[in-house]
Amino acid sequence: MHEFRYVGDEFYCEGVRVSDLARRYGTPLYVYSRKTILDHLTKLKKAFASLAPLICFSVKSNSNLSLLKLVTDHGAGLDIVSGGELYRARKVHADPAKIVYASVGKTRQEIADAIRYGILYFNVESIQELGVISDVAQELRKNVRVCVRINPNIDPHTHRYITTGTVDSKFGVDLETARLIFLNEPNFKRVSVEGIHIHIGSQITQASPFVAALKRALGFIDHLKRIGIVVRTLNIGGGLGIIYREEQPQTAREYADEILPLLRGRKLRLILEPGRFIVGNAGVLAAKVLYVKDTPEKRFVIVDAGMNDLARPSLYGAYHEVHPVAAPKSGKRAFLKKSDVVGPICESGDFLARDRQMPLYGCGDLLVVMGAGAYGFSMSSNYNSRRRAAEVLVSGKNACLIREREIYDDLLRHEKVVEL
Ligand code: LLP
Repeated sequence: MHEFRYVGDEFYCEGVRVSDLARRYGTPLYVYSRKTILDHLTKLKKAFASLAPLICFSVKSNSNLSLLKLVTDHGAGLDIVSGGELYRARKVHADPAKIVYASVGKTRQEIADAIRYGILYFNVESIQELGVISDVAQELRKNVRVCVRINPNIDPHTHRYITTGTVDSKFGVDLETARLIFLNEPNFKRVSVEGIHIHIGSQITQASPFVAALKRALGFIDHLKRIGIVVRTLNIGGGLGIIYREEQPQTAREYADEILPLLRGRKLRLILEPGRFIVGNAGVLAAKVLYVKDTPEKRFVIVDAGMNDLARPSLYGAYHEVHPVAAPKSGKRAFLKKSDVVGPICESGDFLARDRQMPLYGCGDLLVVMGAGAYGFSMSSNYNSRRRAAEVLVSGKNACLIREREIYDDLLRHEKVVEL
């Protein structure tokens, strides 16, 4: 479900015309629907209600402060992966007791800051890291809790760049190492090893990889129990896929129906770390057509948004639907032609859509790239010295700017001209 649709010929986000937003705030523009975000959060909460899990929104998917405030005000915790994400969490006064921190490369400073803030768990990804966490905890005279991120070696059947739970990936530790960590807990002073964390990848559309990974984690928890170690927390990560094209991902309910029976009767505190599921289809990227260029091979629709604004198509070959903001009149529809929607960046890989049958766009027409709420703005860059886009949050008939478009001075802020 999402709140983007045509009313007549006009494309709306909730009760607001996207063409009005583009006029008011300019393009490229990220537009988010508050209702869609909350609807997805609620669906997940309801589906898992019997276990009342802690749902930690994955900040990397969209780290805008207003969105973090929105989800945390509605009970979500946060899944963070850097000092910068911790800083954002602090800015919105996120409850530290609902923050979990993963990453294979946490620095001493980041660890210290997170301990001082009093986060719930570090998701530990190596023995060395655990040693550093223990060191820092002793220096600060604070006790810390950790979950061990295990690598269950399950293939989630998604893009290889977003596969994280196979044996050849850098994430987590193998089960033997995890066992050693639990057995040696007393050697890691001020650290309490309380749980298991798994996250096998992202945009996973089938239940089977989740189930297989969970079974492996539960088997490991049972093994630990046999040797006298009690695991209290299980974090099953994120990864739930959404519809970009014709996928048939699981609904929250279907996902829960697969997961919950496996957890029944176990006294485990459950944590989820969804990102894409919450915000993916809650955002679009609006762009303006600058030029239309016909070649003997195909048509290029050149727009004012590029791979620096939305990297997913270039980076993963990801498919995002593209729609005109004003539905084309039937006359124009007759001119469907194979087209690429491309940006102004000086790279052939700078495309938002490829080989699509598209109506005839004219200069100044607006279009929207769908499913851009997750890993859209958060992965954007200043490549080609482009200013990053503005972001707008819509609620009913209201819209609020939640990030201003960058200005040229933003590009130069940290630079110096030196002559050597
Ligand atoms: N937990 C951990 C430890 C993660 O590494 C991730 C995502 C999540 C949770 C949230 O996963 P989600 O529910 O959003 O699938 N840039 C890529 C996706 C990278 C995902 C990285 N980790 C993309 O645009 O597809």
